Amino acid sequence: MKSIIDVIKKRHSVRNYSNKPIEKDKVQQIEAYLKNNTQGPLGSTLRFKLFDATDYDPAELKKFGTYGFIKGSRAYIAGVVKSNVTAMEDFGYCMEKNVLFATGLGLGTCWLGGTLNRSTFAQMMNVTEDEILPAVTPIGYAKERKSLKESFIRLAVGADNRKKTEELFFDNSNTIPLVMNSSGQYSKVLDAVRIAPSASNKQPWRIIKGVGNRYHFFMKEDTAYNTAFKNIKIQNVDMGIAMCHFELSAIELGLKGVWKIEEPAIESGDFKYIVTWVG
Ligand SMILES: Cc1cc2nc3c(=O)[nH]c(=O)nc-3n(C[C@H](O)[C@H](O)[C@H](O)COP(=O)(O)O)c2cc1C
Repeated sequence: MKSIIDVIKKRHSVRNYSNKPIEKDKVQQIEAYLKNNTQGPLGSTLRFKLFDATDYDPAELKKFGTYGFIKGSRAYIAGVVKSNVTAMEDFGYCMEKNVLFATGLGLGTCWLGGTLNRSTFAQMMNVTEDEILPAVTPIGYAKERKSLKESFIRLAVGADNRKKTEELFFDNSNTIPLVMNSSGQYSKVLDAVRIAPSASNKQPWRIIKGVGNRYHFFMKEDTAYNTAFKNIKIQNVDMGIAMCHFELSAIELGLKGVWKIEEPAIESGDFKYIVTWVG
C-alpha cells in the first residue's frame, strides 16, 4: 500500500507527455476508480470519464484543445458535476482524488480549468443542462524533460513556490498564525494542504483552527479571478482540492473527523467561510 501523503508529495503538474500509452491494466484500474467516484463530501453528484485517445489520429487528438499548453498527451480525464451550491468544492475534492490515484500509478496529470476548449470536452461528456464541467486533466507518462513552454508556465505562476504556513494557517482568528508544532499530527495534515495544486498557484486556502480539533476552511478569494469563468468558480474548486488533501492525510494518520458547514463565530476578516473539519 502506498502512503497517500507520499503520493501527495510526489504530485506535480505534467505538461509534456511521452508517447508511451497507458497499459491496459492501468486503464482498467482508472476506469474502475472513476466509476465509483460519484459522490462529493458535501453532497453533489459527479461523473468522470477517461478518454483514451491512443487510437485517435493526430488530427483527432488536436480536437482535445488545450491551446498548446499540453504537449503529447494521449488521454484525458474529464468530469462533470450536477449544479449545486457546493458543486465546485465537491468537484475539486473528487477530481483531486482521481489525480492522486493516477499519481500513485506513476502517471502524470495537470489540472486544466482555464486553458482548455471546454465546449469540446462538454460535448464528449454529453453534458446535460444541469451539469457543469469545471476542469479536465491530461493523464499519461511524463516525458523526461520539460518542454520550454512548460518551464515558462511554471516560472510564470511560481509553481514550485508555496506560501509560508503563517500566511495560510491561523489560530482562532484570521490574525494569529498557528504554531504548527502545537498541532500534533494535524501539522502533517496541514503540510499536505500547503503543497496542493491550485489555479494559477494562488493558494486561496486559509484554515483557522478553532476549539478542539475544529479546522475551519476559508477562501481568500481573488474576486475578479474567481468570477472570470461565470458559473465555474475555480477558487472554490481549489478549496475542494484542499479538503481532499486534508481528509486523505488525516485518515492515513488515524485522525477521524467529519465535514460540517457551521459558520463559526470567529474573527475571519475578508476570508470567505467554506466548511469545517470537525475532528
Ligand atoms: C483548479 C485548477 C485549474 C488549473 N488550470 C490550469 C490551466 O488551465 N492551465 C495550466 O497550464 N495549469 C493549470 N493548473 C495547474 C496550476 O498552474 C498548478 O497546479 C500550480 O501552478 C502548482 O504547480 P504544481 O501542480 O506543479 O504543484 C490548474 C490548477 C488547478 C488546481
